[in-house]
Amino acid sequence: MTQTADGRGSNGGVVAPASTLVIFGASGDLTSRKLMPALAELIHRGFLGSFFSVVGVARTEMSNEDFQARMVAAVDNPPDDWGSVTERFRYITGEYDHPDTFNRLCTVLEQIEGQYRGPAGNTGNRLYYFAAPPSTFATLVAGLRDAGLNHAHAEGAFARVIIEKPYGRDVASAVALDEAVHSGFSESQVYRIDHYLGKETVQNLLALRFSNAIFEPLWNRNYVDHVEITVAETLGVGHRGGFYEEAGALRDIVQNHVMQVLALTLMEPPSSMDPNGIRDEKMKALKAVVTMSERDVESNVVRGQYSEGLVEGDKAVAYRAEEGVSTISTIETYLAVKLTVDNWRWAGVPIYLRTGKRLPKRVTEVVMHFRAAPHLAFAAKTAKRLEPNSLIVRIQPDEGISLRFGAKVPGQAFQVRTTSMDFEYDKQFTEEDLDGYERLLLDALLGDQTLFIRTDEVHEARRIVTPMLHAFSDPDFPVAMYTAGTWGPGEAERLMDRDGRKWRQP
Ligand code: BG6
Repeated sequence: MTQTADGRGSNGGVVAPASTLVIFGASGDLTSRKLMPALAELIHRGFLGSFFSVVGVARTEMSNEDFQARMVAAVDNPPDDWGSVTERFRYITGEYDHPDTFNRLCTVLEQIEGQYRGPAGNTGNRLYYFAAPPSTFATLVAGLRDAGLNHAHAEGAFARVIIEKPYGRDVASAVALDEAVHSGFSESQVYRIDHYLGKETVQNLLALRFSNAIFEPLWNRNYVDHVEITVAETLGVGHRGGFYEEAGALRDIVQNHVMQVLALTLMEPPSSMDPNGIRDEKMKALKAVVTMSERDVESNVVRGQYSEGLVEGDKAVAYRAEEGVSTISTIETYLAVKLTVDNWRWAGVPIYLRTGKRLPKRVTEVVMHFRAAPHLAFAAKTAKRLEPNSLIVRIQPDEGISLRFGAKVPGQAFQVRTTSMDFEYDKQFTEEDLDGYERLLLDALLGDQTLFIRTDEVHEARRIVTPMLHAFSDPDFPVAMYTAGTWGPGEAERLMDRDGRKWRQP
């Protein structure tokens, strides 16, 4: 396909096979807010072909027509054929623990697949999306398995399942969930989604590192002083207070999104870009992260929570005043963590992570801070002002890469000042990218597991965060308050200061 008239870009000839997406939890927020807009965009750009349908399953009472109308309304800027596509959508009201729900699902799938037979014959491909609460996942797998829906239903067809985070609450429940999932689906059928992996700039970390010869030789302890990863949000917890009280920043952001970015930053070059080539290397990188002792958690972790303040000029209430949040909650909305990595490449290079809600700016970035030049032959004043080099990979917003370096200030005096070379995605490329959910839904339909999390990665990430989870279960573990709209508690500054470093002000 060529560029579309509105410039949304081409699909490069990639079209997913005829399939039906079965969404459990179809009456919920994720379906309307993320999945429908993603599907509409994929249709608009020609990625889904004409034989695609959706079956929504949830407990909420709704007719097919109600569901279709809801899905139409969920998309702000729909493609012309969105109305006719949604006419194929079906809805089943049902309990997840009733075999009847799954028997009806069988019937509906067979009807759809019979009705919408593609030119090459509809192959009966089924992609199940678990957008329901995590506590229902094991029940859903059992229901699908007992109804025989977990296997490919026709020769050459697929049955796959997409699972949303969190994958269990702790090590024991993650293992139990895995066992439950594997009782119905083999690992090659399981797509654990982390929308960060669908972000273009997260994938660009791989391109930057492994398609250029100039960065990789520097990407190690000989040249890198420390690594900094920031995931900052201006948003508070909104209406998700109840969920957040269970999750906190550690489970909501660090254990998944930050760990994935960390793995891509630290991993060795894969020998091939196939799904397991990349995931094996990510896994090795995660394995090398040192398990924190109780003392490490006390000294290397800052747990914070926002109090009332001003964010981007608007008044923000304290976390404890948010809907669904306990007035004495100690759940963290901010975390700063220093980790160490035990391998040849990264030994002795501290990794600083921070994430928070209600910070002054929405920004996700990875910063490689290089060692200072060994000797500066300039006037002491100039040398003092010069920052060591850094390479900033901005994941969002304003996706791009900046290299900070010293340059001579024009003029008679020999003055050197830090400046930067900036690459901005949207200035260099006219092609429009796919957003996280678009990309990942398409990959799941195409059967590409590269950007999905393998079960062993989940367990490794969990191992890294478990000492923090244990420490946080102690009600006396300190929670440092920070004013909404600031860069987090002073304790986080001290975590860096003590090592003679500073967080970058994005
Ligand atoms: C989600 C978290 O996984 O990621 C949210 O549950 C968070 O709390 C969101 O706001 C951030 O995603 P993004 O793409 O906006 O950085």
